[in-house]
Amino acid sequence: MKYFIGNWKMFGVPKSVNILNKINLFYSEDKNRNKYRVIITPPFTLIESYSKYFKNKSISIGAQNCYQKDQFSSNTAAISSYMLRSVGAKYTLIGHSDNRSEGDNDTMLKDKVRYALKNNLKVVFCIGENKTEKKNKKTLNVLKRQLMKVLEKKFNKKNIIVAYEPIWSIGTGQIPTANELQKTTIHIKKVLKGIFKKNSPAVLYGGSVDGSNVKMFKEIKEIDGFLIGGASKTSKKFIDIIKNYYR
Ligand code: PGA
Repeated sequence: MKYFIGNWKMFGVPKSVNILNKINLFYSEDKNRNKYRVIITPPFTLIESYSKYFKNKSISIGAQNCYQKDQFSSNTAAISSYMLRSVGAKYTLIGHSDNRSEGDNDTMLKDKVRYALKNNLKVVFCIGENKTEKKNKKTLNVLKRQLMKVLEKKFNKKNIIVAYEPIWSIGTGQIPTANELQKTTIHIKKVLKGIFKKNSPAVLYGGSVDGSNVKMFKEIKEIDGFLIGGASKTSKKFIDIIKNYYR
């Protein structure tokens, strides 16, 4: 199973549902539809209405983050997995580099993953090295550390997806070479097999994915899908990625 996950970030108002309607229509009629899933993570403000609207349709709705506590707490502006689940979210991103740079550390991320799984959300756990780490050839070590510090064997790996997003690639148009990316993905899967024993969860790539570079990515069979930022905000761009991937 492949995944095409659209991360809207700080984008979208109620009428932006039109974008998802077009994506949903394409997906429902696509002859390849059994090979992949489409998940969109709009901002918190739209999760309830979009989840209701797409309840019996093809695409799934997720959140972009969740708070590191169960159910309810006294933290102002915090939103828990329990609350997200109660309004229909099926997935949540955790550990996106935007949130790591705003202070999400390994301890917080572990709690986020734990409570998300407890509340029946599927977790898309994001990891990635920055430019300096890449330059100093620390990529593989950094990724291993990010995985080992947060994921544990006792977590239900069936509900975990890992998204590899090199920070230098997010929103920049720069992407790793096919060779680099294949090596990194194999490394990530090896670390995951070490944690979970047996099979690895799915591993996605994210960072400047678009309709033209996806052709390069599809040669790398180790990649189980994509986390798509900028190109998920227009139905045409998002659909082009899927079309070109299966062309
Ligand atoms: P991008 O974002 O596709 O715009 O590079 C990816 C992400 O941050 O998830």
